[in-house]
Amino acid sequence: MYGFSRLSEEEKRKFIARYSQNPEVAGRQLEEALIRDENERRHFLEFSENTISAFHTPYGIAPNQKVDGKVYHVPMATEESSVVAAASHSARFWAEHGGFRVTGLSTIKPGQVWFRWFGDPNYLRNRWPLLKLFLLERLKKVTLNMVKRGGGVKSLELLEKGEIDPQLFQLELQVDTVDSMGANFVNTCLEDLAEGLFQFFALDSDPEGKNLQVVMAILSNYTPACTITVESSCRIEDLASISGSMDPFLFAEKFELAFRIASADISRAVTHNKGIMNGIDAVLMATGNDHRAAEADAHAYAARDGQYRSLSWCNQADGVFSIGLTLPLAVGTVGGITHLHPLARLSLEILGDPGAGELMGIVAATGLASNFAAVRSLVTTGIQQGHMRLHLSNLLNLYNATPRQREIATAYFRNRKVSYEAVKHFLHEQPC
Ligand code: MEV
Repeated sequence: MYGFSRLSEEEKRKFIARYSQNPEVAGRQLEEALIRDENERRHFLEFSENTISAFHTPYGIAPNQKVDGKVYHVPMATEESSVVAAASHSARFWAEHGGFRVTGLSTIKPGQVWFRWFGDPNYLRNRWPLLKLFLLERLKKVTLNMVKRGGGVKSLELLEKGEIDPQLFQLELQVDTVDSMGANFVNTCLEDLAEGLFQFFALDSDPEGKNLQVVMAILSNYTPACTITVESSCRIEDLASISGSMDPFLFAEKFELAFRIASADISRAVTHNKGIMNGIDAVLMATGNDHRAAEADAHAYAARDGQYRSLSWCNQADGVFSIGLTLPLAVGTVGGITHLHPLARLSLEILGDPGAGELMGIVAATGLASNFAAVRSLVTTGIQQGHMRLHLSNLLNLYNATPRQREIATAYFRNRKVSYEAVKHFLHEQPC
C-alpha cells in the first residue's frame, strides 16, 4: 500500500484495523489508548510518524532512592516483572546505609565531520590553524544560546584517518550541552562545520569545491567524556538484613566473586550489564530520554579495553563492602520530548526538576540498585523465586483466573515452580 502516510489519523486506524480479527473492536482499542487531552494528543502524535495509537508500558515508582543525601521517588517505565520491586528493595537498603554517592561526573559530548581531501594533505595541515579559527567563528551564531546557558564548544580537532581511507580526515568536535541531551544541537553544529569547510576552501584555494568531499556529519553516541560514577558502601555485617539465611560474610564473598566473574567472562558480563540497564532504561523511558543511545553507549564503554566487561564493581575488605558503577550517559532534562510528553514532564517534576547532571546520578544509582538486587538474588535464593511471583500474576491474568483461583494459586505456588504449563494445569483443576 502506497500513500499510507498521507491518510488522516482516523483513516490510518481504520485501514490497519481491517487487518485484525475484529476491525470495529480494534479501531476502538487503538483510539482509546490515545491521550484524551487534545493539545497533548496532538504533540504526542507528532513525536513520530504514522502514529495511530499509544503503546502502554507500566509506569512505577522505586521509592527512597538516596543520592548524595537527597531522597528521590524514582519513576520507572518497564514491562519486566521484578525490575521496579528489585530496585525499590535495594534502594531502601542502601538509603539506610547512607545512599549512593556521585564520585565522578563529566558532560562533554562528541561529534564528527568525516571528509575526504583530494588535494595536497600538507596544504590542509598547514591551513588548519586558520581554518579552525574560521570554523569556530562561524559556529558562534549556532552556539550563542548554549553558551548563555553555560555550555558550548570545548574543542575542535583535525584528525587524519588514513588507516580507513587514504584521503580521509575527521573534524572532531567536543561540546558541553548542559541540561540538554544535545543530539540536535551537536548535529546542527556539525552540519555548520561541514558547510564551513566548503566556504573556507571556496574562498581559499578550491573555488569549485573539487578537493573536498564531505562524507557525513553526525554526533557520536559513544560518550566516554560524558560519564557518571556512583558508589556506596556498608559494613559487611549490615548485609545480614538482605542476605536471608546466608551468613553476611559468605554473602559478601560470593557477591564479590560474582562481580569478578562478570568482569572476566563476556557471557556473564552481558547479562550482568543487562541487569544494570534494566534500571537505567526504565528511568530513561520515564523521563523521555533516549534509552537506545544509552544502551549503545554503555556496551561500547564496557568493551573499551578490548574485552567486554561488567560496568559495575564490588570490593570487600577490612569488614567493608562497596559497590560502584561507572558508565557513559547522555541525558537531558530540557529539549527532546522531556517537556512535551506529559508523563516525562511529570517524572521530572516528581524528581524535583533536576538538571542533567543530577538526573545522571539518579539514573546511575537506579542502575546500580537494580544490579545489586539481581546479583543478590543470584547468589542467594536464585532469580526465579522473586521473578516468578510476579510472573505468576501475569500468567493468572493471561488465563483469566477468577479472584478465588488467584488466591488459591498464589498460596499453592508460594513454594513451587511457576511455569506456563503448571499454572494452566492448576487452573484447569480448580473450580472458578
Ligand atoms: C534479568 O532481567 C536481569 C538479570 O539476568 C541480571 C543478572 O543476571 O545479573 C537477573
